[in-house]
Amino acid sequence: MHEYKVVVLGSGGIGKSALTVQFVQGVFVEKYDPMIDDPYRKQVEVDCQQGMLKILDTAGTEQFMVIRDLYMKNAQGFAVSYSITAQEQILLVRDTEDVPMIFVGNKCDLEDERVVGKEQCQNLARRWCNCAILGSSAKSKINVNEIFYDLIRQINRK
Ligand code: GTP
Repeated sequence: MHEYKVVVLGSGGIGKSALTVQFVQGVFVEKYDPMIDDPYRKQVEVDCQQGMLKILDTAGTEQFMVIRDLYMKNAQGFAVSYSITAQEQILLVRDTEDVPMIFVGNKCDLEDERVVGKEQCQNLARRWCNCAILGSSAKSKINVNEIFYDLIRQINRK
């Protein structure tokens, strides 16, 4: 069976764990204890093709940097996440030429609290990697599957 390895990036509190757990287990976790980076596995079927998706949900802390670097080298695709309710610096971590990638604006259920402009993010996504941008909510289960399916499709096209 084909194996896909993707990494969910973004700073703390964005909802990386919540998105990953929602996708893999179908539940919204209010409080997730990031003891260590955890590779999650899920069997997926995209465009009639079966595969095993391994997701690394990166914890933002320094002690996991080495593990994270290793995963980043091996990963085939990246979900670069930010929260629409928090301004932050989105850092480019790898040469993005031709790397399957998707920009994810999480917490879109909190539209009233939006502080990051839609246009601003679209421009960033276009400038960086010409990649797709999705608004998601781990809480309201919006576009969670789409993040990972889109990445798999991008990987398949390579
Ligand atoms: P680190 O593990 O510190 O890197 O954070 P993280 O990016 O994994 O964030 P986490 O999944 O722990 O979520 C942070 C907080 O945001 C938690 O209180 C979640 O319940 C909340 N949260 C996550 N996703 C959503 C969402 O889509 N909507 C709302 N309203 N809250 C969310």
